[in-house]
Amino acid sequence: MSPPTEGETGGARRVLVAGCGYVGCRAAEMLAGQGHRVFGLRRRPVDLPEGVEPVAVDLLASGLEDRIPLVDQVVFAASSDSPNEEAYRRIYVDGVDALLRVLEARPPDQRPSRFIFVSSTAVYGDAEGGWVDEDTPPRPESFRGGVMLEGEARTLASPIPGVVFRLGGIYGPGRTRLVDQVRAGRARCPGDGPIWSNRIHRDDAAGALVHLLELPDPDPVILGIDQEPAPLCQVYRWLASEVGAPEPQVDPEMSRDRSNKRCSSRRLQASGYRFRYPSFREGYRAMLQEMDP
Ligand SMILES: NC(=O)c1ccc[n+]([C@@H]2O[C@H](COP(=O)([O-])OP(=O)(O)OC[C@H]3O[C@@H](n4cnc5c(N)ncnc54)[C@H](OP(=O)(O)O)[C@@H]3O)[C@@H](O)[C@H]2O)c1
Repeated sequence: MSPPTEGETGGARRVLVAGCGYVGCRAAEMLAGQGHRVFGLRRRPVDLPEGVEPVAVDLLASGLEDRIPLVDQVVFAASSDSPNEEAYRRIYVDGVDALLRVLEARPPDQRPSRFIFVSSTAVYGDAEGGWVDEDTPPRPESFRGGVMLEGEARTLASPIPGVVFRLGGIYGPGRTRLVDQVRAGRARCPGDGPIWSNRIHRDDAAGALVHLLELPDPDPVILGIDQEPAPLCQVYRWLASEVGAPEPQVDPEMSRDRSNKRCSSRRLQASGYRFRYPSFREGYRAMLQEMDP
């Protein structure tokens, strides 16, 4: 059986979201809402959005080849179980490789036409507060960026057309750590010049993934951050004033050991994507309204 063509399904596609978590499930929900047939893969596929078919699979287990459905497109958005190099390597290198091997072993007419690997702006390391974009050579300074870069390389070396989508810090409903810190008066501003933060709301991360699946010929590397990188302190102070919390204090130690860069979303915008939340202000305002309607 080969995957149905667009003509057979009236434009509907079969999409596998491998790692159907915070971002993946939101993308899956949007795709299912557009009438596509969507498979949400994870080890424990509970509470998947309506219309998303569960695929209970561990990407690191054996026998993967019999358990991956025939699909037209794949989004790889699985994340690491722990913040250490071994766990990172397991999912972002071994997991990606295992899934790609299964897909690559299929006859050409049964392979997906696109494989999007969700990566991270951590591949860039420090730029001393300067701009980085898709043309900036990655120079990861941590194992996080280094391992992601290996997953990217595996994706782009595959005969299956690959796209690497480098996300900044994801925030949105349910991810309230920063808001909680500011509310509790625990947020601290760096003391030694601005440290830039590069964020994207979950709905834009997912919306951009859906957009990248629709583009006929996307660039192989795309950054996923909103239109306005902002100094951390500006975000903290704005949030404090929104929630009526005390103004965050300066901590002179804070600027050390932090990678400092401004990531550009120009390529994503030029590809036709329109942000729902162009900056942290719109995104957090929506989030605050949901927290305290
Ligand atoms: N969070 C950020 O700020 C940020 C920033 C930059 C990039 N990213 C990247 O964005 C991607 C998505 O992040 P997220 O926050 O949406 O992740 P998430 O909510 O943690 O979801 C990841 C999903 O992967 C599944 N998973 C993990 N190991 C698996 C395995 N061995 N087999 C099958 N499924 C597995 C998990 O489900 P089960 O446990 O049920 O298997 C989980 O649902 C990740 O690649 C992450 O590194 C995140």
